[in-house]
Amino acid sequence: MKSQLEELRRSAAERIAAAKGKSDLEAMRVAYLGKKGELTAILKQMGKLSAEERPVMGQLANEARAYIEQQITEHAEIFKQKEKEERLKLETIDVTMPGTLPRRGHKHPLTIVLDEVKDIFIGMGFQIASGPEVELDYYNFEALNIPEGHPARDTQDTFYITDKVLLRTQTSPMQIRYMEQHKPPIRILAPGRVYRSDAADATHSPLFHQIEGLVVDKGVTMGDLKACLETLAKGLFGEQTRIRLRPHHFPFTEPSCEVDVSCFRCGGKGCSMCKDEGWIEILGGGMVHPQVLRNGGVDPDEYSGFAFGIGLERIAMFRFHIDDLRLFYENDMRFLSQF
Ligand code: DAH
Repeated sequence: MKSQLEELRRSAAERIAAAKGKSDLEAMRVAYLGKKGELTAILKQMGKLSAEERPVMGQLANEARAYIEQQITEHAEIFKQKEKEERLKLETIDVTMPGTLPRRGHKHPLTIVLDEVKDIFIGMGFQIASGPEVELDYYNFEALNIPEGHPARDTQDTFYITDKVLLRTQTSPMQIRYMEQHKPPIRILAPGRVYRSDAADATHSPLFHQIEGLVVDKGVTMGDLKACLETLAKGLFGEQTRIRLRPHHFPFTEPSCEVDVSCFRCGGKGCSMCKDEGWIEILGGGMVHPQVLRNGGVDPDEYSGFAFGIGLERIAMFRFHIDDLRLFYENDMRFLSQF
């Protein structure tokens, strides 16, 4: 039995030394020291020994157990150390390697242009206002001199929600809403989404953006409108830009005009950008109709005002030389990352 124990110690030490990992060690603990292990098998023979031999063998068996346990623990420690070294090696950072820059977010091209327009008007003392996109027929049409049956309704294909509720087709209802809530002097810019039931193509989208302007005060004239829009045009397209007002018709302004800027590519000589016109239309405007002032609770005998409406997409397309409106909404990173 003594030689069995010695052999056990020897073979255990050998196999533990050859173990490849923690799980090998665990398997050996079971094989040598477990309930069905080799040491237990040897101890079962104790009954056959004499009373003098038993304590001596018991002692040897305990020593063998302690020895094997110690061998396992020592090797487990070695594996732990190795693991740690490998982990540290993986975690090492080479500070001389070139870094990868995180990708920075940036503004959408429509936001860039809107912010520019806002800046220009805030510089002239305007405040920014906003209102509902789900609007009453009254604010979108009636109060702006567009009663039922008026031909102007046909030009704005409307998404109706009920008979009297719709998705606003223009930001002009903000004129009435703001005048109802505020006394003149009024100087606001009201940007926002508008909706028209148009099929999407390079120049149409069922959702787009307008920027409404409204100024109401004593003695406001068409000259003020012109100066204001000249400031906008120069701010957006450069100091050399000129503007021109062409007579037009809108139900809510009288007189009304469409406003062109001199082509910022050819300077007015004519090119493909301005379709050889030398001029590019950028917005509509005019003097607020006396009835519209009245509808907003403002006395037209005391006050006058001007208003204008800018198509944000149209301006952004010219500003960045984009020929398809749909690009603004598709969120294609190849397009967006250029701005
Ligand atoms: N609301 C007009 C449209 O959608 C644009 C417009 C024209 C707004 C003249 C105005 C204005 O305030 O005075 O076509």
